[in-house]
Amino acid sequence: MIELNNISKSYSKHIKAVDSINLKVENGEIFGFLGPNGAGKTTTIKMITGILEPDEGDIFINQISMRKNPVEAKRSFGFVPDDPNIFPRLKAIEYLRFMGNVYDVPTEARSVKIAKMAKRFELTESLSNRIQSFSHGMRQKLMIMGALLHAPDVWILDEPMTGLDPRSSYQLKEMMREHADSGKTVFFSTHVLDVAERICDRVAVIDQGHILFCGTMEDMRQHFHSSRSLEDMFLQLVEEMRPEESGQV
Ligand SMILES: Nc1ncnc2c1ncn2[C@@H]1O[C@H](COP(=O)(O)OP(=O)(O)O)[C@@H](O)[C@H]1O
Ligand SMILES: [Mg+2]
Repeated sequence: MIELNNISKSYSKHIKAVDSINLKVENGEIFGFLGPNGAGKTTTIKMITGILEPDEGDIFINQISMRKNPVEAKRSFGFVPDDPNIFPRLKAIEYLRFMGNVYDVPTEARSVKIAKMAKRFELTESLSNRIQSFSHGMRQKLMIMGALLHAPDVWILDEPMTGLDPRSSYQLKEMMREHADSGKTVFFSTHVLDVAERICDRVAVIDQGHILFCGTMEDMRQHFHSSRSLEDMFLQLVEEMRPEESGQV
């Protein structure tokens, strides 16, 4: 469960990236955070994960306050950032061991989990290679493995399908579905409407720091019919989706 209460963030006097947003992501659902480039998705996610401090409001992860108990709250989520370019000189397996140590994952459980996820993502053969030799998609998959190693209840992923080939993207979506179906929480951002449409139980649409809509995909379709501004935004999203269509199946 993730709860955002009246969250705002400004980068300067002129840029209010997130403006008084409220959101509740329930257990058992895949929740899509949807909006065009620059809408405020990453800023919101950085606040949820404690990378940025909100100017106002509080965030709760499984009812634990990020302001009052940040370390405890952080234990309960796994986070995949939008930029997977980290620790290029480490071997993939070294990175995963490092993540396992940070989150106190017992050695035995760690090996089993790594083997299982590597197989799913077709990375088994590459685990002993340095991250700098990895493609963007391989780095992305490695980040996902690192984030999920400690079996967190809450998954938070910023544009996770970007750069993934169709098979890996399919695997990730399956993993997200399984996690939500087991009663846990998946929250991810995307600017690609198509991805959201296929897998989300509910979505929120953010634009210029404001939540324009929150509900099921079915609710959203009805809204787009009756609201001019949302329809405009829908078209904008579809427009942005086109150049990346092939990688987003
Ligand atoms: N570090 C930063 N400094 C100043 N402005 C920023 C910074 N990061 C993001 N912004 C601005 O905040 C707004 C929201 O950005 P972001 O949260 O990255 O959007 P999204 O992830 O939806 O594309 C944009 O106008 C962006 O230019
Ligand atoms: Mg972003």
